[in-house]
Amino acid sequence: MAIDLYRRSVEIILENQSETGAYIASPNFPTYEYCWFRDGAFSAHAMNLAGENESAVRFHHWVANAINRRKTLIQNTIAKAGRGEPIRPEDALNTRYTVEGEPAEEEWPNFQLDGFGTWLWALAEHQAHTQTQLPADWLEAAGLIADYLASLWALPCYDCWEEFPDQVHTHTLASIYAGLDAHRRITGPKHERIRSEISRFIMDEGHKLGYLPKFIGSDIIDASLIGLSVPYRVVPVDHPIMLATIEKIETDIHSGGGLRRYSTDTYYGGGEWILLTAWLGWYYAEKGDRERALAALKWVESQADVHGNLPEQVPSALTDSVHFEAWRERWGEIAIPLLWSHAKYIILVHALGQFSQ
Ligand code: BGC
Repeated sequence: MAIDLYRRSVEIILENQSETGAYIASPNFPTYEYCWFRDGAFSAHAMNLAGENESAVRFHHWVANAINRRKTLIQNTIAKAGRGEPIRPEDALNTRYTVEGEPAEEEWPNFQLDGFGTWLWALAEHQAHTQTQLPADWLEAAGLIADYLASLWALPCYDCWEEFPDQVHTHTLASIYAGLDAHRRITGPKHERIRSEISRFIMDEGHKLGYLPKFIGSDIIDASLIGLSVPYRVVPVDHPIMLATIEKIETDIHSGGGLRRYSTDTYYGGGEWILLTAWLGWYYAEKGDRERALAALKWVESQADVHGNLPEQVPSALTDSVHFEAWRERWGEIAIPLLWSHAKYIILVHALGQFSQ
């Protein structure tokens, strides 16, 4: 490799962090010039691993500010949920924000819960990594988010791909579980009963099928289910249900090169995703399967362009080429660089580091 992709990945994330601390999803893609907590949390974690703690601090500061500004909305929504009233789109926190921490103008499928759990997870990781006392306003934001997730966890919402709003998604539940666990790690026990309820709910579903499904009541697989083990730790990496889930992921959506999101995906034709392949490698590294983790790393590295940019996905092994063209006409070329792809690559490099010691 002519380019040091690891170094370049760190630079790309830092270059696309705004003065305010927000990481934009991708600089060259019109609808991605915003910050998502989901993508941003992984970028912050990657920055911690890369020794760029200051960057992670600025991100968490930005998130805490964006959340605390919405304290009234969050408290009203929690109260509504407590009274059993329906939660409407305007009651939900937004999913993507401008770098100033404001919602974007256009309509967006906002009711998504996973990114908030992922942020809490990254915050607890940040604390463990830096061994620092978190500022009071971050703790306040973390508390608001933990209460928000604990109140809304059982509701259908858009998944991490911003689709299927009428379903309860296994990966989303796992992110919420990890978020509540992170909150416990940061401040002490609070939502323990709900956390065990979530894990029981997920495992009951897993026991019914023998593997974990994309959403409750479905039988299809989704690559984001890797998160159930790594990093959300609902299921151990070598639990039979997790092994069966990974095996089904391998059979149904991994054709040898990169990993796809799910078998009927049509977004840009449903190609192979960089961040998902790196995520699968991260799982294998944690499981102790160095060979498979390395294969994922090599594939990811082979997808970088000459400047060391990693895209969101590559249009190979498409499920649907008609949709590829339709999306290209609508939104242009596939997003590149995508910060989340670089973040997951950095994380995989570190996960693999354990083998060289
Ligand atoms: C993906 C989301 C992601 C967003 C920004 C969307 O296409 O489905 O998971 O957070 O892009 O990268």
